[in-house]
Amino acid sequence: MAVYQIVTIGDEILREKAKVVTKFDDRIIKLLNNMMETLKMEDGVGLAAPQIGVSKRVIIAFKEDEDKIIEVINPEIISSLGEECGEEGCLSVPGKVGLVKRAKDIVVSGQNAKGESIEYNASGMFARIIQHEIDHLNGILFVDKIEKVEKF
Ligand code: CO
Repeated sequence: MAVYQIVTIGDEILREKAKVVTKFDDRIIKLLNNMMETLKMEDGVGLAAPQIGVSKRVIIAFKEDEDKIIEVINPEIISSLGEECGEEGCLSVPGKVGLVKRAKDIVVSGQNAKGESIEYNASGMFARIIQHEIDHLNGILFVDKIEKVEKF
């Protein structure tokens, strides 16, 4: 396992559309392990693969109610409900915090490291993290959506 340097705003990879994962092999396990290690080291709540320089549709997110980090490969929001404004930051945009409008409750589907289908009903902070990380896979940063900048 290895801790990676977080790619920061200005790097092109953060603006690319990440590629769909089709092979569920050791490389995906290794990528997930490295993402977990890096997130732990950075004391963050979520991470998308492009943030460590890998343009693949892989995210990890802190799930409050289970107190653990979960992974979703090829994540897809299949339904969303409500709207909520909340504070966000991003390891790729150091020193910035702002209010972003997100869906309140979502259902996200995708695959686990073995390629098995998974689905989560997410609300609150977990739903916000998932939406933020999926944006990363589409080249979108939270500062693009910011309602009000609170801190630079
Ligand atoms: Co981010």
